[in-house]
Amino acid sequence: MRLNSPQINLITKACMKASRLLIRDFGELENLQVSAKGPGDFVSSADKRTEKILIEELQKAHPDFGIITEEAGIINKSNIENRWIIDPIDGTMNFLNGIPQFAISIGYEENNEIKCGVIFNPITNEMFCAEKGNGAYLNNSRIRVSNKKKIRDALIVTGGPKQASKIKDKIFSEYINISNNVSNVRKFGSAALDMAYVACGRFDGYWQRELNYWDIAAGMIILKEAGGFIDFFEEDPNLPLKKNILATNFNIHDELKELIVKKDIE
Ligand code: IPD
Ligand code: CA
Ligand code: CA
Repeated sequence: MRLNSPQINLITKACMKASRLLIRDFGELENLQVSAKGPGDFVSSADKRTEKILIEELQKAHPDFGIITEEAGIINKSNIENRWIIDPIDGTMNFLNGIPQFAISIGYEENNEIKCGVIFNPITNEMFCAEKGNGAYLNNSRIRVSNKKKIRDALIVTGGPKQASKIKDKIFSEYINISNNVSNVRKFGSAALDMAYVACGRFDGYWQRELNYWDIAAGMIILKEAGGFIDFFEEDPNLPLKKNILATNFNIHDELKELIVKKDIE
């Protein structure tokens, strides 16, 4: 891998350290404590332990940096110049069900711009990473988005809605509309890996409503550096960490966007 900023080195090391425990926990799922965080949302002790290791490792190098992280919230709130954006396990439901489709996701932001990011699936040993201006990689190989040009041939991935979502009807009609116009739609259960898979050309596009920033921060830089294109739609200025995203190989972007924002879906 030809990325070597101090931040990417730090994130990679933190991921490797935390993943040792994650691999062990994945093998001992039946002993894991699971508590309900809210309807349709579970947090396992593995999430918390992974997060703790990641925070400790990152803070050893930069105790003053801000951190936005799923379980512990915001740390060093006043530092918005340098921030880590962490999802300790993206794809918790998969993890808890013994499905090896989950990842640690960490992005690094400077003055509100994501500079680098890593998405690591410790079970498949796939590490996706990127640095602004230096490209995106899967392990040691450079990655690029697909070259698919026709929306009819496109394989699209999505996620959600969560059990508590109040806009399920809207999401499902959107799903029908898109599924009528693309080759097929997949739902894999990890937003971070969904984006990484668009970045390396396995999927041609991804859309999802009601995401959190930590689900996609690392994916944003990885996808951009792989030549992809990202749009946010129907954003609420009062909820800056909530996101509705459309991320594609660029070629199919406008057509897919039209299918999403079309209001009167039959
Ligand atoms: C979830 C996953 C899932 C997406 C949900 C996310 P979590 O993250 O990314 O694919 O559909 O919206 O909340 O809870 O597993 O970290
Ligand atoms: Ca997540
Ligand atoms: Ca998570």
